[in-house]
Amino acid sequence: MAPAIIKQASVSTDNASAPTYTTSNGRPIENPRASTRIGGEYGPLLLQDFHLIDQLAHFDRERIPERVVHAKGAGAYGEFQVTDDISDLTSADFLSSIGKKTKAFVRFSTVGGERASPDTARDPRGFAIKLYTDDGTLDWVFNNTPVFFLRDPTKFPMFIHTQKRNPQTNLKDADMFWDYLTTNQESAHQLMTLFSDRGTPAGYRFMHGWSGHTFKLVNADGSFVYCQITLKSDQGIKNFTNDEATKVAGESPDYATEDLFNAIERGEYPSWTAYIQTMTLEQAQKFRYSVFDLTKVWPKSEFPLKKFGKLTLNRNPENYFAEVEQAAFSPGHLVPGFEASADPVLQSRLFSYNDTHRHRLGVNYLQIPVNRPEHVFNPVQRDGGLRVDGNYGAFPNYQSTFSPLHYRAGTSTAKHEHWASTALDISPEVTDLDYEQPRGLWKVLGRTKGQQDNFVYNVVSHASAAKPEIQKRVVELFSRVDEELGDRIAAGFEKAKSK
Ligand code: HEM
Repeated sequence: MAPAIIKQASVSTDNASAPTYTTSNGRPIENPRASTRIGGEYGPLLLQDFHLIDQLAHFDRERIPERVVHAKGAGAYGEFQVTDDISDLTSADFLSSIGKKTKAFVRFSTVGGERASPDTARDPRGFAIKLYTDDGTLDWVFNNTPVFFLRDPTKFPMFIHTQKRNPQTNLKDADMFWDYLTTNQESAHQLMTLFSDRGTPAGYRFMHGWSGHTFKLVNADGSFVYCQITLKSDQGIKNFTNDEATKVAGESPDYATEDLFNAIERGEYPSWTAYIQTMTLEQAQKFRYSVFDLTKVWPKSEFPLKKFGKLTLNRNPENYFAEVEQAAFSPGHLVPGFEASADPVLQSRLFSYNDTHRHRLGVNYLQIPVNRPEHVFNPVQRDGGLRVDGNYGAFPNYQSTFSPLHYRAGTSTAKHEHWASTALDISPEVTDLDYEQPRGLWKVLGRTKGQQDNFVYNVVSHASAAKPEIQKRVVELFSRVDEELGDRIAAGFEKAKSK
């Protein structure tokens, strides 16, 4: 006797008003669970079963390369609104009047971990903003810290390797991590933030964002001022301690992703107030540091913050892969009136992002809806993999007399001065100047009870896993910032050894 068939919960198959299920070429399919078999239930399959083969082949290709850095992230839509007039400083259309709104998409991320790594890792956080202006998409590809580890772009691949996995063991490696940082001590300033509790924010809503780099606000006549942007969280700052971050990494690895999504679903829309600092060319030439040195901040006492806008996030994506994973930001995506400075790291980034997008998403990555500009017309860029927008139809693919185009005057980026001189191979030396701002930060930490203690604890917890000679260099590095700080870290290593 045949065994009795068990009644399981089953999906309805006769709902005529629902979308009709089909193969990828649109052929309706009666039973998506069935496969064509010879002779009975366990008979061999046939290659002619297009539905089965198509399903497996598509599944086999579901993953695209993850971002080489900033692989783990979360995103949301919103808007940027001008709150205060800075139109005297720039011809940028999206900043032209108080109240003007621009649609936005933001992706937050950690830097070093893979796509499934915990959100609470000690790491800078990416804060990438897409502003869909009428004059093109402007990407502010910022971090949650005002400075960066380096000022030589050639160091970036090397530096990132040391923060990721050892090529032999495939493990995170404290020796590599600190070996690099102690031999490239222009990183001291960034380390002061990373190893404070700001290195472990309690969610993306509770951190500030910074341009880091110097940009240029440019007027229609070509005159410009240098600028830096700060976005201050209206939710305030909230951080985890080292031990809390470690615990949450185990219990709720997607903590920040969940926090952002749920807050927006509840209607608690996170927002950031945008401030600008400006500097003239003359001021920049007299400034104590180079404005093109990404390891330095502009003191607020000399270059005050001026409020100019608000960024609000108010809509979750419908589909994570389509909208967040496929989002492609680039510091090279600029608009008239908001231009790049000569900062060599920024200049290198202008190349690197679009290059990686062509590898990760393909040459037509700007046709993906989340990346698509509001208005775009470039019929010279044709064809290429996955062209899905009609490819400009019969329109001429060159500058043609038959179908003229309008070329808008005043949008050139070429005409304003940078400092220029002889071409040399340079990597700026580390000098006393590189420890001044870190020293200032150490003092700032001293203003809040427990923050200096936490800093020492955080460095010791991390670098205790490194070899003794590397630990010695860690002590030397932080002693240059502050002698007492170095002594306290040395004592911490001793104590950790005796445990
Ligand atoms: C992501 C390169 C420095 C912020 C990336 C990506 C690359 C890259 C290749 C992956 C992009 C993707 O696959 O979508 C570089 C290079 C740098 C540099 C070569 C220096 C030479 C910086 C700095 C900042 C920054 C200084 C911040 C001030 C970000 C952010 C993302 C990112 C926020 C993630 C964007 C997203 O959410 O998709 N970077 N980067 N990077 N970078 Fe950088």
